[in-house]
Amino acid sequence: MHPAFVPRGSATPIPVWFVGTDTYAQVRAQLGAGARRFAESARLEPKPGQFLLLPGEDGALCGVLFGLEPGDKSEKDRLLPGRLPGLLPAGAYRFANAPHDTRLAALAFALGSHKFTRYRKAEPGGARLELPDGVDGAELSRIAEGVIFARDLINTPANDLGPAELAEAAQALATRHGAAFNVIVGDDLLQQNFPLIHAVGHASPRAPRLIDIAWGDPAAPKITLVGKGVCFDTGGLDIKSDAGMLNMKKDMGGAACVLAAAHMIMDAKLGVRLRVLIPAVENAISGDAFRPLDVYKSRKGLTVEIGNTDAEGRLVLADALALADEEAPELIADLATLTGAARVALGPELPPFYTTDDALALDLARHARAEQDPVWRMPLWRPYESMLDSKTADINNVGGPHAGSITAALFLNRFVGAAKAWAHFDIFAWTPSAKPGRPDGGECQVARALYALLKERYG
Ligand code: BES
Ligand code: MN
Ligand code: ZN
Repeated sequence: MHPAFVPRGSATPIPVWFVGTDTYAQVRAQLGAGARRFAESARLEPKPGQFLLLPGEDGALCGVLFGLEPGDKSEKDRLLPGRLPGLLPAGAYRFANAPHDTRLAALAFALGSHKFTRYRKAEPGGARLELPDGVDGAELSRIAEGVIFARDLINTPANDLGPAELAEAAQALATRHGAAFNVIVGDDLLQQNFPLIHAVGHASPRAPRLIDIAWGDPAAPKITLVGKGVCFDTGGLDIKSDAGMLNMKKDMGGAACVLAAAHMIMDAKLGVRLRVLIPAVENAISGDAFRPLDVYKSRKGLTVEIGNTDAEGRLVLADALALADEEAPELIADLATLTGAARVALGPELPPFYTTDDALALDLARHARAEQDPVWRMPLWRPYESMLDSKTADINNVGGPHAGSITAALFLNRFVGAAKAWAHFDIFAWTPSAKPGRPDGGECQVARALYALLKERYG
């Protein structure tokens, strides 16, 4: 069980009362006389995020009031209780009444308890939550663990997380769950026909590699997750500006999020044959760097002209997707911090996704909403495929100034065909300013929604 939780009945927890403008009077009436008088004289306004520690008759902490938005749960920030671990003194607590979504509130409590402490130790908060009735502690713990695993990987700077270290993290996860692990490194990528992964990673002294995890009954439906593992993106010879490069340690966010989803799937033992493919590279600059207008023959056989070396993510994904597609799985889902254009369109919190499978899109949207792990469908607009035309090769890796997230998705789509379904998520993998349960820094996007969908289908 996650360390933020205490099992039911193991402690005498302090009650946390959720209050809104609609429920405050009713909650106040249930408090002891001293606590009620204290709350009244403190003039707590039951607004979202407001809180008050309540003294009992003896002056000891006897309860907590925590403000929520009034009304039902739709469209509310159901992770708001993720602020509690940062507010409460050490000790055990319980939910005295129901927040908007008890399961997500408890998850947010766990997610809000974690800090990235690799380089600077933080005082542990010490507030713990008694598992609310009806909430599955093992399930919540596996979700929280996956999310935190992804956040920590993303937050780890590139000097400590290159392609080799990313592969080590993936291997540790595979070993823990009894999965098969394979990795193809450096020039072996050429031997085994992954020319684009090799080309993008070639400039770095830290060799590129393709990570391959396989788990589960080989006869079960095949689900393949592909994650962009660019451990640092300088842009290559088409070098990024200082501002553009600043945050590019997070360019392996897709890899981190598919590993998070893989952890949830394997830990829950879903009835799937799972495969995880991560092209892990550093898009560096040296005499060995690939160049603008170089042409490479991809694994799939399509020739690709390099219009811009900063569009490296789609190149490494192209070879990984081609491999994934060779076994015609039930579903390929790829997650990638692929374009700045996705952020211009939808901002940091709402990753666009692309699929031709309408049923999958509806299921994804439903689970994304239920989990508050939002995504928004965007069109694979075929007429824009011509933006990727090349004068010398089958396709160019960039599509011009317009519709950048769509043309990136259309590029990837050229490397899939045999899979029964495919979905591409253009994620940000970062929280620019902290929100309850979501500290600023690396963020796990899409994994919880995807896991919920797979659990419904194959659980
Ligand atoms: N990793 C970046 C995309 C990115 C940038 C994601 C900032 C999140 C925040 C990607 O490799 C990239 O550089 N894309 C280019 C593509 C362009 C050259 C067609 C971009 O979006 O500018
Ligand atoms: Mn780039
Ligand atoms: Zn990139």
